Amino acid sequence: MKQVVVIGGGPAGYVGAIRAAQLGAEVQLVESEAIGGTCLNIGCIPTKALLHTAHLFAELSSGSSGVVAENTRLDWPMVLRHKQGVVHRLVQGVEGLLKANGVKIHKGTAVLTSDGTIEVGGAAPLKLAADAVILAVGSEPVKLNFPGSCLPGVIDSTAALSLPRLPRSLTIIGGGVIGVEFAALFRSFGSEVAVVEMLPQILPPVDGEIASQVRKELGRRGVQFLTGARLTEVVEKDGALCARVEIAGESREIASELVLVAVGRKPRTGGLGLEAAGIAAERGRICVDANFQTNIDGIYAVGDCNGQIMLAHAASAQAVAAVEHALGHKSAYFSDIIPACIYTDPEVASVGMTEEQTRARGLKFKVGTFPLAGNGKAVIESGGTGMMKIICGDKYGEILGVHIFGPRATDLIAEAALAIRLEATVDELISTIHAHPTVSEAMAEAALAVSGRAIHWPPRKR
Ligand code: NAI
Repeated sequence: MKQVVVIGGGPAGYVGAIRAAQLGAEVQLVESEAIGGTCLNIGCIPTKALLHTAHLFAELSSGSSGVVAENTRLDWPMVLRHKQGVVHRLVQGVEGLLKANGVKIHKGTAVLTSDGTIEVGGAAPLKLAADAVILAVGSEPVKLNFPGSCLPGVIDSTAALSLPRLPRSLTIIGGGVIGVEFAALFRSFGSEVAVVEMLPQILPPVDGEIASQVRKELGRRGVQFLTGARLTEVVEKDGALCARVEIAGESREIASELVLVAVGRKPRTGGLGLEAAGIAAERGRICVDANFQTNIDGIYAVGDCNGQIMLAHAASAQAVAAVEHALGHKSAYFSDIIPACIYTDPEVASVGMTEEQTRARGLKFKVGTFPLAGNGKAVIESGGTGMMKIICGDKYGEILGVHIFGPRATDLIAEAALAIRLEATVDELISTIHAHPTVSEAMAEAALAVSGRAIHWPPRKR
């Protein structure tokens, strides 16, 4: 029986461990903190639990649906308990799954050694050897060093998830996915929020048209955006934190109770023993081939620690591919078809190429857009805010990219991912009957809009 050791118990590590067990390996998993990793404990799941509460609170407070809830208020300790309850339940679930698959869990910190073994420190130190080792050690927030970065009240995303009380105001440094999700979250809870982004646009990798709609909608809800803005320092002033930023040579000050720094994440590979084991890495990112194997035979690196793409579902897919390769099976990983979701309100989701990427590759393409104001279910759920956008090849209409801003976007994107995976064309999307009333109808409408045939939107003036 093959021996597999997995280091890290996040969405890469635990999924890889279960897959290895399914394929008949004897599997040991080493985790120094809680099973579930960043995603379950201090990332995807707790933020989405808080966003769910924030959405309910904003909806009830607005009274726009006709529900009159008098004296609506937040019980902050209870909000945190609800979030923690969800986390606890899912972590226990994953632990149960590992056990049910016969995976042995070791609590402790694993270090790779020069003789190819793994030392596990902790309460009961031990030495492990394996036929295949899966490194799935994840990532940590990038720390910005600016004057004032160590002041109390300057926090990262982990601290932002367990604040003892709701801040009256918050300045977020970084307008990427984390920054924008937290901006939506705290604004819905009623905090004053400002976002400072270095680049001219928020959400840099997102399709430009969609990103500017997100900015407009969050701006309408009261989030202040400062783009092309460079943070110079944070100082304490009159009992608040004051972030000084430079925009086009001019200095601006933003006062707030807290400053959240969300300027990216980096692989958490320090102290893992990469050098001792002879494993190649570039700026902390473990180098891997197409099978996620490192330069050392039998040692694989999956998920955030190889720095390819920092998304939980990509990490899980990489882990499955790596384990299947290690155990002599055929595997498939489609790196160009990875959906990406941003949990604002409404949501953002995309898969495939953006318009900018399509243009940069010199491809001939067509675009179909459909405003969600023309979709009944979206009007009910979000007042019709948002759009559906499809990019397809000019000649055959093959779908190259789909970008959604609107309610249920993060679920709807699955259809688009499958369509690209099956090399479907816009005509095939159109001839697939979409149920009514659903937001998914907008997918067929955007496909029709490629040739100016959308039903629920007036034609362009001839
Ligand atoms: P990010 O790379 O998405 O965004 C960081 C932003 O900070 C960029 O827009 C960058 O231009 C800006 N920035 C950098 N230095 C700055 C400075 N000195 N002043 C102002 N702006 C500055 O990183 P983020 O948001 O921290 O997320 C980290 C990772 O976690 C990403 O890979 C993201 O995809 C992933 N993630 C995914 C989520 C999801 O799938 N829903 C949710 C949260 C995180």
